[in-house]
Amino acid sequence: MKKLGYGYCSSSKATIVFFFFIHVASILVTQYTEAFDPLIQLPRTTFTKTRTRTRPRSRRLISLLDFSAIGDGIHNDTQPFLEAWKTACSLPGFVNVDIPYGKTFLIHPVDIDGHCRSKITLRILGTIVAPKDPAMWYGLNQRKWLYFHGLNHLTVEGGGSINGMGHEWWAKSCKTNSTIPCHPAPTALTFHKCKNLKVNNLTLLNSQQMHLAFTSCMRVVASHLRVLAPPSSPNTDGIHISICKGVEVRDTIIRTGDDCISIVRNSSRVWIRNITCGPGHGISIGSLGKSNVWEKVQDIYVNGVHLFNTDNGVRIKTWQGGAGFASKITFQNILMENVSNPIIIDQYYCDSQKPCENQTSAVKVEGISFIDVQGTSATKEAIKFACSDSSPCEGLYLENISIVSASCSRGNVSSYCWQAYGSTRGFVYPPSCLLSNDNFIKQRVWLGSNHATNSI
Ligand SMILES: *[C@@H]1O[C@H](CO)[C@@H](O)[C@H](O)[C@H]1NC(C)=O
Ligand SMILES: *[C@@H]1O[C@H](CO)[C@@H](O)[C@H](O)[C@H]1NC(C)=O
Ligand SMILES: *[C@@H]1O[C@H](CO)[C@@H](O)[C@H](O)[C@H]1NC(C)=O
Ligand SMILES: *[C@@H]1O[C@H](CO)[C@@H](O)[C@H](O)[C@H]1NC(C)=O
Ligand SMILES: *[C@@H]1O[C@H](CO)[C@@H](O)[C@H](O)[C@H]1NC(C)=O
Ligand SMILES: *[C@@H]1O[C@H](CO)[C@@H](O)[C@H](O)[C@H]1NC(C)=O
Ligand SMILES: *[C@@H]1O[C@H](CO)[C@@H](O)[C@H](O)[C@H]1NC(C)=O
Ligand SMILES: *[C@@H]1O[C@H](CO)[C@@H](O)[C@H](O)[C@H]1NC(C)=O
Ligand SMILES: *[C@@H]1O[C@H](CO)[C@@H](O)[C@H](O)[C@H]1NC(C)=O
Repeated sequence: MKKLGYGYCSSSKATIVFFFFIHVASILVTQYTEAFDPLIQLPRTTFTKTRTRTRPRSRRLISLLDFSAIGDGIHNDTQPFLEAWKTACSLPGFVNVDIPYGKTFLIHPVDIDGHCRSKITLRILGTIVAPKDPAMWYGLNQRKWLYFHGLNHLTVEGGGSINGMGHEWWAKSCKTNSTIPCHPAPTALTFHKCKNLKVNNLTLLNSQQMHLAFTSCMRVVASHLRVLAPPSSPNTDGIHISICKGVEVRDTIIRTGDDCISIVRNSSRVWIRNITCGPGHGISIGSLGKSNVWEKVQDIYVNGVHLFNTDNGVRIKTWQGGAGFASKITFQNILMENVSNPIIIDQYYCDSQKPCENQTSAVKVEGISFIDVQGTSATKEAIKFACSDSSPCEGLYLENISIVSASCSRGNVSSYCWQAYGSTRGFVYPPSCLLSNDNFIKQRVWLGSNHATNSI
């Protein structure tokens, strides 16, 4: 609890500063003891109900060791893995495929087609490792390592780990060495076009690039994950959600070199809660609108995130020139410690080697709420709304915000607004700079009143 000292450091503190010190302190205490108790009680998940209803009496068990896997981390165990999967896939009913505890299986890039008779639970009790050497991807898709597609009712769990062995990929990244041209690197674990998917209780380590991606999926629950990579590892996003509908991510710890969670490309109904993030780049919506694409990200509810030493806190980033919407997005119950750019909307995002041209179109950002955000900022600008000239942000909403400086010497923090319209309620520090415009659509807070994965 040493961090509670922040409020005391300036000798010229006004009473208001003391007020939010108390406020931060009480939030820290309640959140550490009760974790993140959501303000709204959400209904129980469909999955819980389905599970209790359909959990079968018997389940076939298949182990990688039944298929002559060695599990010493040196032998190529790809073939046994594929054979175990093929067998599991062809059986009727429920099947467990076990990656045994205490062993390490070296698996080369695999593309698993999920048109199975069975409903499979992949139990990773031990460790799966990738080949260290990027040359092993020669002639293969450089973006994939463990790739599952077209599965319905897959569960991946077991308490084991998946290690991408990414060091050689990181050294070859253009983000690490700017003289090297940019080239793709694998996402460790990808689920594409999967439905009714659960990914629980796993550790994902040192991925080549992103750790876990859900693309074109529906009804996904990811929980009790630990995602770990060095802060300096390039583009090692924790969990990436793209073109998905109905995703819940909860009870997860993410410490990597890029976004803890990123949500992009036509995704909706995403519910994120009880996440610890940092180091890393925070929780990001986007980037959206790159290369002039149209996209829509909406109905996102982020409730209960502890951000620690991250490069951003909660962020929406769009490229100039895009189109579509980022709307109905709520960030609530957020605790920040020494976060750079705690609250940021950046419609001038440009992550390319050459500078980006100014353009006249933009992804429309509207209906974005920040409620109950407390903590400390590592930068002077604690709130930044850099919105598009051609399509200003509308319906921004701030309620009960208190972000103070993480360092005594930097003094007060401030807000920056450009073309940003909206309203505030309750206590807001740093003071809001939002422009109000009653003609703009009345703000409605999206609280995920139904569970994200319900009713799809
Ligand atoms: C590992 O085994 C898989 C499956 O048999 C094979 O496709 C791959 O080429 C093997 N890799 C090496 C380096 O032996
Ligand atoms: C995770 O998996 C381990 C090993 O199977 C098990 O003992 C533990 O209870 C699981 N934890 C959760 C949260 O499911
Ligand atoms: C960057 O890459 C170039 C070309 O591959 C290489 O010569 C140089 O040593 C690398 N620099 C570092 C710092 O690794
Ligand atoms: C939050 O997640 C952590 C794991 O990251 C877990 O230990 C804790 O029990 C969760 N809290 C709640 C309230 O579920
Ligand atoms: C999003 O969906 C729209 C149609 O609904 C499509 O035109 C657009 O290409 C999609 N964008 C992306 C980035 O997938
Ligand atoms: C706070 O964040 C800054 C910028 O990321 C970093 O340089 C500094 O070491 C951090 N302070 C602490 C106490 O971790
Ligand atoms: C874009 O516009 C800004 C502000 O009007 C200006 O400072 C900047 O130089 C322009 N950039 C380009 C690439 O034209
Ligand atoms: C904001 O703070 C006020 C005063 O402490 C409190 O009455 C209100 O419930 C808070 N709102 C939220 C959403 O926590
Ligand atoms: C910090 O903010 C307080 C209260 O708004 C004000 O009295 C004080 O002058 C500010 N200090 C600096 C260095 O701007």
